[in-house]
Amino acid sequence: MHERHEHEQYFFLPETVTELADFAAGFARPCCLCAPTVGAELAVRGASVRVLDLDERFAGVRGFVPYDLYRPRALDEDYDLILCDPPFHKVSPAQLFDAIRTLARGAFTQPLLVCYPREREAALLGTFAPFGLVPTGYFPRYISVQAHAPGDIQFYGNLPITTPGR
Ligand SMILES: C[S@@+](CC[C@H](N)C(=O)[O-])C[C@H]1O[C@@H](n2cnc3c(N)ncnc32)[C@H](O)[C@@H]1O
Repeated sequence: MHERHEHEQYFFLPETVTELADFAAGFARPCCLCAPTVGAELAVRGASVRVLDLDERFAGVRGFVPYDLYRPRALDEDYDLILCDPPFHKVSPAQLFDAIRTLARGAFTQPLLVCYPREREAALLGTFAPFGLVPTGYFPRYISVQAHAPGDIQFYGNLPITTPGR
């Protein structure tokens, strides 16, 4: 499947997809928001995963629901993890915060992991202060050289990412 760069769609390398799916598989009701390749991998493994993304090419993935960050809506369900790799430029931290707060139904105790460029982490951490995000030290890798150099993007979270070998 080709990446839709007009939607800032940059897929993780298979190794990163596997690591993140291994980690998220430890949760009973994970939600992959703007991380459809991780959601697809979890669905293949039989996990009860919610997969939210604008890109309806993932409609065949079990658990997929089309979702537009610009039009946040709550789904009538709880998640024990939201894992998000948002479009960094088109969607502002405030817009992303609105969407995630809506999905979490206002619960700032929601376990949350959000990918973001390190050079803009202050904006993310400031906006997401109610969720208590901190750097996790986990750096995802991407397929496309048009994405970012290794180490430019980090996951921020209110829980640690534990993967073998990292
Ligand atoms: C940086 S990519 C993350 C993809 C992830 N690395 C993966 O491998 O699954 C951003 C994702 O956000 C989605 N997206 C872009 N604009 C969106 C919007 N307004 N609402 C919801 N999803 C959006 C894209 O389709 C894309 O899958």
